[in-house]
Amino acid sequence: MKQCEYTTILTRQQIKDRVTSLGQQITNDYQGQQLVLVGILNGAFIFLADLARAVDLELEVDFIRVASYGNDTATSGAIQLTKEPELELAGKHILLVEDIVDTGTTLAWLREFFTRYQPASVKMCALIDKHERREVDVLVDYAGFSLDSGFLVGYGLDFAQKYRNLSAVYSLSDNQHKETSHAE
Ligand code: IMP
Ligand code: MG
Repeated sequence: MKQCEYTTILTRQQIKDRVTSLGQQITNDYQGQQLVLVGILNGAFIFLADLARAVDLELEVDFIRVASYGNDTATSGAIQLTKEPELELAGKHILLVEDIVDTGTTLAWLREFFTRYQPASVKMCALIDKHERREVDVLVDYAGFSLDSGFLVGYGLDFAQKYRNLSAVYSLSDNQHKETSHAE
């Protein structure tokens, strides 16, 4: 982050505290149920690792990967599944774990997609629910933080595949993330 202009949005401690309370809430809500956390790669890998350890249940973990074609900072709407879930999901309670919900396009597509596995339920947990660019009216069942705007990096969130390993969440300055664009 040395040559970037950025602002700290969520500190390590804020994230840690919120993940702990989300974990407790999920533990209470899924008592006695077969829960599968399904992480959406790549962005969810750090959040899922911490969240899974904050949930005190005999859960299972799986991952999927989606490619959404757009530029670095926005989803175009054309979504393709590039890694399918591998566990048996029928009759189980699925909790999709995502880094950030922005336009809502990915989440709406995933909710529809997962019905094919005939799960008992499908819910969504996102570290960040970002409102400013919402295009599809979707429900984020468990939102870590509700934010209005900004292009955010760190704790799994990337800009052009960089900055995922930062322990806190930062907002890049406006001109920073408009400099380049590519298909994700
Ligand atoms: P949606 O389909 O527009 O909701 O897009 C969600 C995806 O866009 C996320 O999983 C991220 O990969 C990406 N994204 C949206 N906003 C940001 C951001 O502020 N920082 C990093 N990635 C973002
Ligand atoms: Mg993502």
